[in-house]
Amino acid sequence: MKAKINGIEMFWMQEGQGHPLVLLHGFPLTSAMWGPQLVHFSRQYRVIAPDLRGLGQTSLVSDQTITMELMADDVAALLDHLKIARAVIAGLSMGGYVAFAFYRKYPQYVQSLVLCDTRSEADDADGKAGRYTLMEQVREKGPGVVAELMIPKFFAPDTYRHKQEMVAQLAGLIERNNPAGIVAVAAGLAERPDATPLLSQIKVPALVMVGKDDLLMPAEGAKKMAAQIPDWQLSVIPQAGHMSNLENPNFFNQALDTFLRSTAED
Ligand code: MLT
Repeated sequence: MKAKINGIEMFWMQEGQGHPLVLLHGFPLTSAMWGPQLVHFSRQYRVIAPDLRGLGQTSLVSDQTITMELMADDVAALLDHLKIARAVIAGLSMGGYVAFAFYRKYPQYVQSLVLCDTRSEADDADGKAGRYTLMEQVREKGPGVVAELMIPKFFAPDTYRHKQEMVAQLAGLIERNNPAGIVAVAAGLAERPDATPLLSQIKVPALVMVGKDDLLMPAEGAKKMAAQIPDWQLSVIPQAGHMSNLENPNFFNQALDTFLRSTAED
Protein backbone atom coordinates (compact mmCIF):
# COMPACT_ATOMS: atom_id res chain seq x y z
CA MET A 1 0.00 0.00 0.00
CA LYS A 2 1.14 3.54 -0.58
CA ALA A 3 0.20 6.97 0.79
CA LYS A 4 1.68 10.39 1.34
CA ILE A 5 2.76 10.28 4.98
CA ASN A 6 4.95 12.73 6.91
CA GLY A 7 5.94 14.49 3.68
CA ILE A 8 7.05 11.41 1.73
CA GLU A 9 5.50 8.66 -0.41
CA MET A 10 5.43 5.77 2.01
CA PHE A 11 5.03 2.12 1.03
CA TRP A 12 4.01 -0.62 3.44
CA MET A 13 2.78 -4.18 3.33
CA GLN A 14 -0.25 -5.06 5.39
CA GLU A 15 -1.82 -8.48 5.94
CA GLY A 16 -4.30 -9.97 8.39
CA GLN A 17 -6.54 -8.73 11.18
CA GLY A 18 -6.20 -8.50 14.94
CA HIS A 19 -3.70 -6.82 17.23
CA PRO A 20 -1.20 -4.81 15.19
CA LEU A 21 2.34 -6.12 14.79
CA VAL A 22 4.75 -3.67 13.14
CA LEU A 23 7.91 -5.11 11.53
CA LEU A 24 10.84 -2.74 10.91
CA HIS A 25 13.52 -3.93 8.49
CA GLY A 26 17.32 -3.75 8.59
CA PHE A 27 19.86 -1.75 6.58
CA PRO A 28 20.04 -1.49 3.63
CA LEU A 29 17.04 -3.74 3.06
CA THR A 30 13.28 -3.36 2.65
CA SER A 31 10.02 -4.75 4.06
CA ALA A 32 10.51 -7.73 1.69
CA MET A 33 12.86 -9.27 4.28
CA TRP A 34 9.79 -10.06 6.43
CA GLY A 35 8.17 -12.49 3.95
CA PRO A 36 7.94 -15.55 6.25
CA GLN A 37 6.61 -13.43 9.16
CA LEU A 38 3.95 -11.78 7.01
CA VAL A 39 2.63 -15.18 5.99
CA HIS A 40 2.77 -16.69 9.48
CA PHE A 41 1.60 -13.86 11.72
CA SER A 42 -1.16 -12.52 9.44
CA ARG A 43 -3.19 -15.60 10.45
CA GLN A 44 -3.72 -13.97 13.87
CA TYR A 45 -2.42 -10.41 13.76
CA ARG A 46 -2.64 -7.29 11.64
CA VAL A 47 0.92 -7.26 10.34
CA ILE A 48 2.33 -3.98 9.02
CA ALA A 49 5.77 -3.84 7.42
CA PRO A 50 6.80 -0.44 6.03
CA ASP A 51 9.69 0.34 3.72
CA LEU A 52 11.59 2.84 5.85
CA ARG A 53 12.38 6.28 4.43
CA GLY A 54 14.74 6.24 1.44
CA LEU A 55 14.63 2.45 1.05
CA GLY A 56 12.49 0.14 -1.08
CA GLN A 57 9.48 1.99 -2.47
CA THR A 58 9.44 4.74 0.18
CA SER A 59 10.77 8.05 -1.05
CA LEU A 60 13.14 10.50 0.58
CA VAL A 61 13.71 14.24 0.68
CA SER A 62 16.95 15.00 -1.17
CA ASP A 63 20.00 16.01 0.89
CA GLN A 64 18.28 15.08 4.14
CA THR A 65 20.03 12.83 6.64
CA ILE A 66 17.62 10.04 7.54
CA THR A 67 17.98 9.67 11.29
CA MET A 68 16.49 6.88 13.36
CA GLU A 69 14.23 9.52 14.93
CA LEU A 70 12.95 10.62 11.52
CA MET A 71 12.14 7.03 10.62
CA ALA A 72 10.39 6.68 14.00
CA ASP A 73 8.36 9.82 13.17
CA ASP A 74 7.34 8.17 9.89
CA VAL A 75 6.23 5.03 11.71
CA ALA A 76 4.16 7.08 14.19
CA ALA A 77 2.57 8.97 11.27
CA LEU A 78 1.82 5.66 9.54
CA LEU A 79 0.11 4.33 12.70
CA ASP A 80 -1.96 7.53 12.89
CA HIS A 81 -2.86 7.12 9.21
CA LEU A 82 -3.99 3.55 9.93
CA LYS A 83 -5.79 4.67 13.13
CA ILE A 84 -3.71 2.32 15.26
CA ALA A 85 -3.27 3.47 18.86
CA ARG A 86 -1.07 0.63 20.15
CA ALA A 87 1.09 -2.00 18.51
CA VAL A 88 3.82 -4.52 19.05
CA ILE A 89 6.93 -2.91 17.58
CA ALA A 90 9.49 -5.37 16.23
CA GLY A 91 12.73 -4.39 14.51
CA LEU A 92 15.72 -6.28 13.18
CA SER A 93 19.13 -4.65 13.41
CA MET A 94 18.56 -1.09 12.11
CA GLY A 95 14.86 -1.80 12.68
CA GLY A 96 15.80 -2.28 16.34
CA TYR A 97 17.56 1.11 16.39
CA VAL A 98 14.35 2.62 14.98
CA ALA A 99 12.33 0.75 17.62
CA PHE A 100 14.49 2.36 20.35
CA ALA A 101 13.98 5.82 18.80
CA PHE A 102 10.26 5.09 18.52
CA TYR A 103 9.96 3.99 22.15
CA ARG A 104 11.94 7.03 23.32
CA LYS A 105 9.58 9.43 21.54
CA TYR A 106 6.27 7.56 21.30
CA PRO A 107 6.05 5.13 24.24
CA GLN A 108 2.27 5.45 24.32
CA TYR A 109 2.01 3.50 21.04
CA VAL A 110 4.13 0.58 22.22
CA GLN A 111 2.48 -2.54 23.62
CA SER A 112 5.74 -4.50 23.62
CA LEU A 113 9.12 -4.46 21.90
CA VAL A 114 10.82 -7.17 19.88
CA LEU A 115 14.50 -6.44 19.34
CA CYS A 116 16.10 -8.80 16.82
CA ASP A 117 19.81 -9.02 15.98
CA THR A 118 20.36 -5.49 17.17
CA ARG A 119 22.29 -3.52 19.76
CA SER A 120 21.73 -0.43 21.86
CA GLU A 121 25.19 1.16 21.45
CA ALA A 122 25.96 3.95 19.01
CA ASP A 123 28.71 3.52 16.41
CA ASP A 124 32.23 3.95 17.79
CA ALA A 125 34.79 6.10 15.94
CA ASP A 126 35.79 3.24 13.60
CA GLY A 127 32.17 2.38 12.94
CA LYS A 128 31.36 6.00 12.03
CA ALA A 129 34.43 6.23 9.77
CA GLY A 130 33.29 3.00 8.06
CA ARG A 131 29.89 4.56 7.36
CA TYR A 132 31.46 7.62 5.72
CA THR A 133 33.72 5.42 3.56
CA LEU A 134 30.68 3.36 2.58
CA MET A 135 28.75 6.50 1.65
CA GLU A 136 31.60 7.60 -0.64
CA GLN A 137 31.74 4.18 -2.26
CA VAL A 138 27.99 4.09 -2.85
CA ARG A 139 28.11 7.58 -4.38
CA GLU A 140 30.87 6.42 -6.75
CA LYS A 141 29.86 2.87 -7.56
CA GLY A 142 26.25 2.33 -6.50
CA PRO A 143 24.61 -0.11 -4.07
CA GLY A 144 26.47 -3.18 -5.37
CA VAL A 145 29.43 -2.30 -3.12
CA VAL A 146 27.22 -2.47 -0.03
CA ALA A 147 25.95 -5.90 -1.04
CA GLU A 148 29.56 -7.06 -1.56
CA LEU A 149 30.55 -5.75 1.85
CA MET A 150 27.53 -6.80 3.90
CA ILE A 151 26.27 -10.05 2.39
CA PRO A 152 29.33 -12.04 3.63
CA LYS A 153 28.47 -10.95 7.20
CA PHE A 154 24.71 -11.49 7.14
CA PHE A 155 24.31 -15.26 7.38
CA ALA A 156 25.35 -18.33 9.35
CA PRO A 157 27.81 -20.69 7.56
CA ASP A 158 25.03 -23.25 6.81
CA THR A 159 22.91 -20.62 5.09
CA TYR A 160 25.68 -19.83 2.57
CA ARG A 161 26.07 -23.58 1.93
CA HIS A 162 22.43 -24.64 1.71
CA LYS A 163 20.30 -21.55 1.01
CA GLN A 164 22.11 -19.78 -1.81
CA GLU A 165 18.85 -18.59 -3.29
CA MET A 166 18.05 -16.65 -0.11
CA VAL A 167 21.51 -15.10 -0.09
CA ALA A 168 21.07 -14.04 -3.74
CA GLN A 169 17.59 -12.62 -3.03
CA LEU A 170 18.90 -10.47 -0.21
CA ALA A 171 21.78 -9.20 -2.34
CA GLY A 172 19.17 -8.30 -4.98
CA LEU A 173 17.17 -6.27 -2.42
CA ILE A 174 20.28 -4.26 -1.57
CA GLU A 175 21.29 -3.75 -5.20
CA ARG A 176 17.84 -2.48 -6.19
CA ASN A 177 17.78 0.13 -3.41
CA ASN A 178 18.15 3.80 -4.28
CA PRO A 179 21.83 4.80 -3.74
CA ALA A 180 20.75 8.22 -2.44
CA GLY A 181 18.57 6.48 0.14
CA ILE A 182 21.41 4.21 1.27
CA VAL A 183 23.72 7.22 1.67
CA ALA A 184 21.12 9.24 3.61
CA VAL A 185 20.34 6.33 5.94
CA ALA A 186 24.05 5.51 6.47
CA ALA A 187 24.54 9.13 7.61
CA GLY A 188 21.64 8.71 10.05
CA LEU A 189 23.10 5.45 11.36
CA ALA A 190 26.44 7.17 12.04
CA GLU A 191 24.66 9.90 14.01
CA ARG A 192 22.39 7.71 16.08
CA PRO A 193 22.61 8.18 19.85
CA ASP A 194 23.46 5.46 22.35
CA ALA A 195 20.21 3.80 23.40
CA THR A 196 21.81 1.94 26.34
CA PRO A 197 20.51 4.44 28.98
CA LEU A 198 17.00 3.78 27.66
CA LEU A 199 17.12 0.03 28.38
CA SER A 200 16.44 0.26 32.11
CA GLN A 201 13.60 2.74 31.39
CA ILE A 202 11.64 0.38 29.15
CA LYS A 203 8.31 -0.20 30.87
CA VAL A 204 6.83 -2.71 28.42
CA PRO A 205 7.74 -6.38 27.92
CA ALA A 206 10.63 -6.90 25.50
CA LEU A 207 11.77 -9.96 23.60
CA VAL A 208 15.39 -9.94 22.49
CA MET A 209 16.07 -12.36 19.63
CA VAL A 210 19.43 -13.15 18.11
CA GLY A 211 20.85 -15.66 15.66
CA LYS A 212 23.31 -17.94 17.44
CA ASP A 213 25.89 -17.22 14.73
CA ASP A 214 25.21 -13.51 14.25
CA LEU A 215 28.60 -12.00 13.34
CA LEU A 216 27.38 -8.41 13.33
CA MET A 217 25.49 -8.44 16.64
CA PRO A 218 26.94 -11.37 18.62
CA ALA A 219 24.62 -13.32 20.92
CA GLU A 220 26.69 -12.41 24.00
CA GLY A 221 25.99 -8.71 23.41
CA ALA A 222 22.29 -9.42 22.93
CA LYS A 223 22.18 -11.25 26.27
CA LYS A 224 23.82 -8.32 28.06
CA MET A 225 21.43 -5.90 26.40
CA ALA A 226 18.38 -7.99 27.34
CA ALA A 227 19.43 -8.20 30.99
CA GLN A 228 19.29 -4.39 31.31
CA ILE A 229 15.59 -4.29 30.36
CA PRO A 230 13.30 -4.76 33.39
CA ASP A 231 10.78 -7.13 31.72
CA TRP A 232 12.87 -9.12 29.25
CA GLN A 233 12.88 -12.45 27.49
CA LEU A 234 15.63 -13.81 25.28
CA SER A 235 15.54 -16.22 22.38
CA VAL A 236 18.74 -17.43 20.72
CA ILE A 237 17.91 -18.78 17.27
CA PRO A 238 19.93 -21.84 16.22
CA GLN A 239 21.18 -22.26 12.63
CA ALA A 240 20.92 -18.54 12.07
CA GLY A 241 23.18 -15.54 11.72
CA HIS A 242 22.18 -11.87 11.45
CA MET A 243 19.09 -12.57 9.32
CA SER A 244 17.59 -14.89 11.94
CA ASN A 245 13.98 -14.37 10.78
CA LEU A 246 14.83 -15.66 7.30
CA GLU A 247 17.43 -18.27 8.15
CA ASN A 248 15.37 -20.19 10.69
CA PRO A 249 11.81 -18.86 10.27
CA ASN A 250 10.15 -21.80 12.06
CA PHE A 251 12.12 -21.30 15.26
CA PHE A 252 11.89 -17.50 14.99
CA ASN A 253 8.12 -17.53 14.45
CA GLN A 254 7.50 -19.98 17.26
CA ALA A 255 9.56 -17.91 19.73
CA LEU A 256 7.77 -14.73 18.70
CA ASP A 257 4.39 -16.47 18.85
CA THR A 258 5.05 -17.57 22.43
CA PHE A 259 6.09 -14.05 23.43
CA LEU A 260 3.06 -12.44 21.75
CA ARG A 261 0.70 -14.85 23.49
CA SER A 262 2.34 -14.34 26.88
CA THR A 263 2.15 -10.54 26.60
CA ALA A 264 -1.25 -10.21 24.86
CA GLU A 265 -3.48 -7.30 25.86
CA ASP A 266 -7.24 -7.15 25.32
C1 MLT B 1 21.43 -3.91 9.69
O1 MLT B 1 21.35 -5.11 9.42
O2 MLT B 1 20.43 -3.20 9.82
C2 MLT B 1 22.79 -3.31 9.83
O3 MLT B 1 23.74 -4.31 9.98
C3 MLT B 1 22.83 -2.35 10.97
C4 MLT B 1 24.08 -1.55 10.99
O4 MLT B 1 24.72 -1.37 9.95
O5 MLT B 1 24.43 -1.06 12.07
